[in-house]
Amino acid sequence: MTEKSSPAPAIDSASADSAPAAKTWSGLFSEPVSELVKRYTASVDFDQRMAMQDIRGSLAHARMLARQGIIAGTDLAAIEHGMATIRGEIERGEFAWNLDDEDVHLNIEKRLTALVGDAGKRLHTGRSRNDQVATDIRLWLREATDQILLLIGEFQRALLAVAEQHAATPLPGFTHLQVAQPVTFGHHLMAYYEMTRRDAERFTDCRRRMNSLPLGAAALAGTSYPIDREFVAAELGFEAVCENSLDAVSDRDFAIEFCAACALLMTHLSRFSEELILWMSPRVGFIVLLDRYCTGSSIMPQKKNPDVPELVRGKTGRINGHLVALLTLMKGQPLAYNKDNQEDKEPLFDAADTVIDTLRIYAEMIAGIHVRADNMLAALSQGHATATDLADYLVKRGLPFRDAHEAVARAVRAARELGKDLPALTLDELKAAMAAVPGAASRLDGDVFTVLSIAGSLASRAHIGGTAPDTVRAAIARARARLG
Ligand code: ARG
Repeated sequence: MTEKSSPAPAIDSASADSAPAAKTWSGLFSEPVSELVKRYTASVDFDQRMAMQDIRGSLAHARMLARQGIIAGTDLAAIEHGMATIRGEIERGEFAWNLDDEDVHLNIEKRLTALVGDAGKRLHTGRSRNDQVATDIRLWLREATDQILLLIGEFQRALLAVAEQHAATPLPGFTHLQVAQPVTFGHHLMAYYEMTRRDAERFTDCRRRMNSLPLGAAALAGTSYPIDREFVAAELGFEAVCENSLDAVSDRDFAIEFCAACALLMTHLSRFSEELILWMSPRVGFIVLLDRYCTGSSIMPQKKNPDVPELVRGKTGRINGHLVALLTLMKGQPLAYNKDNQEDKEPLFDAADTVIDTLRIYAEMIAGIHVRADNMLAALSQGHATATDLADYLVKRGLPFRDAHEAVARAVRAARELGKDLPALTLDELKAAMAAVPGAASRLDGDVFTVLSIAGSLASRAHIGGTAPDTVRAAIARARARLG
């Protein structure tokens, strides 16, 4: 589970005078590390989130050791029994995490040994924390990725429902934030469907590459025991084994890819948020978000602020930061494992948590959006949004496009001077405005008002990718079929 594990008891740091012999590698060391160094180097307060993955990995490793005759069947039975106890302790929040044991791996191994004796001490045969941690992160991230993929699907379902309702609702399409051409609100929303469809592909693709088993690489060079890596891979659901031991323990490119996919997804949702914020401004008034996604002001009683979209936009910066943190963490590291890599977890966990929460909240928020079609239409009726349609009309009647562009520019200018929107001009006014462009006015007929209308403009864009209501409905149907 990527859920935060149940509340653990406070990290227990044994007193500074604890015997150096308590340390795993202590035979070599003549003094214990200081409290500060212990705190600085420990990761157990955050990597305990991988406890269940650590146990799964250890059990697969132990089963392999027993099958290969490297440990006895009785040792395996003891390890399995001890791990079941530990799993229960962790789930109930009773496991006593100890800072002296540095990380999740040593904490669990130590507890196992306390529970089952020598069998616990045999578990680490033929492996290292280096391949162990690389395996745990991949297992954890694979689950997080699967959860994110499900949630992208839920978000898309919510989006498709609103898009379908508004497949024919006219909205001013903007470029440069200036009214450009009519689109439908459904078409606009479907742009975000396409963005998140690619996001889902990125997560799926990145999952494929993270799904290889590092265990067996041991510290860096492999191990002299007769291990069976394919067996461990199959036990843990990995599609392949990492084919170079140095690479297996040291690279975190899969984590960087995951963060990059998170950053892009958040960037898309941040753009969407920016639009929701703009649309919700009383000056624009295209939508209303439910109160539960907004907050009031402590001083201005009239305010209803779109906090959730603003925070999505804000948290995107944080995810971009995590991506840069991981890239920077990796860039200077020589082969093979270096302790720097311990710093990969907090950005990674936070990226996954943030994306998961954001998708959850977004799906609900979109499902409850209130659309003000009247305000959208009013805005669309103020920007001469069908000017391009008029130019296309003249072109279809034989006028070269550049001349048509000029003729329509003059018509827009006349409309402005008359204080009207382009479709409100009479045929005579249109003709008069275009008089200076040879061949333009003579090509105008009464049917020009069909293309000048918003409905006509929308309906004419019926090719794949266009904004015609029926085309939008077809795009929604294809999207539904993909979602299954
Ligand atoms: N806590 C460490 C990490 O997150 C585990 C691996 C430690 N390996 C070592 N050789 N110190 O990367």
